[in-house]
Amino acid sequence: MIELSTIPDLKGWVRSRRREGHRIGLVPTMGYLHEGHLALVDEARRRADVVLLSIFVNPIQFGPSEDLARYPRDLPRDRHLAEERGVDALFAPSEAAMYPPGSETRIAPGRSAARWEGAARPGHFGGVLTVVAKLFHLVEPDVACFGRKDVQQTVVVRQMVRDLDWPIELAVVPTVREPDGLALSSRNAYLDPEQRHWATALSGALQEAHSAWRVGERSAQAIEARMRRFLQTFPEVQVEYIALAEPGAMAPVVEVQATTIVALAARVGLTRLIDNIILGEGVV
Ligand code: PAF
Repeated sequence: MIELSTIPDLKGWVRSRRREGHRIGLVPTMGYLHEGHLALVDEARRRADVVLLSIFVNPIQFGPSEDLARYPRDLPRDRHLAEERGVDALFAPSEAAMYPPGSETRIAPGRSAARWEGAARPGHFGGVLTVVAKLFHLVEPDVACFGRKDVQQTVVVRQMVRDLDWPIELAVVPTVREPDGLALSSRNAYLDPEQRHWATALSGALQEAHSAWRVGERSAQAIEARMRRFLQTFPEVQVEYIALAEPGAMAPVVEVQATTIVALAARVGLTRLIDNIILGEGVV
């Protein structure tokens, strides 16, 4: 595995792979890799000839009171995991390489970013799209892989790819979970053992939604009420939002279908967690 940290080196690597006729798969991450990220690497490997993994804790997608400073980082461990999983190139730039002094241009997301995560984290999706656009521009990947755990992010990125006519195939990879249902996330590292137990409330609430769907409930309001009742049995879990939304643009729905996205964000102690399912599939 080759390691790249500057933009000229990244461009040089991309140019060589293109000259060799390779399809390039890009896996953008913020590091502190877990099986969810490595499933993205596997998907990129299936769809491309060479896999480029980027690791960059993107400061502009964090709000002023968010966890940028304490976001977990461990490049030596990530390097080892990436190499073991067959990544061809690791791009881990510094902040100065990505945003040199004087850099100020930002991508403005549209309506699909207005609700849910977008409302809870103002500026977040603008920061995500700016860094993803920069990576897409530098790498021009044939395929880029994103995790479904950040479902609204996948919707907002897809919209950008469409709007800017990028010939990039997007692969959205199912969420990887712990045996008790907790979605893998780098932020799970913040949870102490008690909080780790409470955090299962998120996937539990999603499973409640799926159970209601299975017995014929079709009202979004009724399903949300059932999830909130379930979550009330976990007083340590503070719900931020519950979304029942259509998958195209994450617009809210009144009547649910099998394809409806059910998403939620909640705080467990100081840790903010998100999770979602496709209603007809449940927690898988
Ligand atoms: O999903 C993430 O880890 C980040 O939002 C991403 C896509 C790498 C952009 O910083």
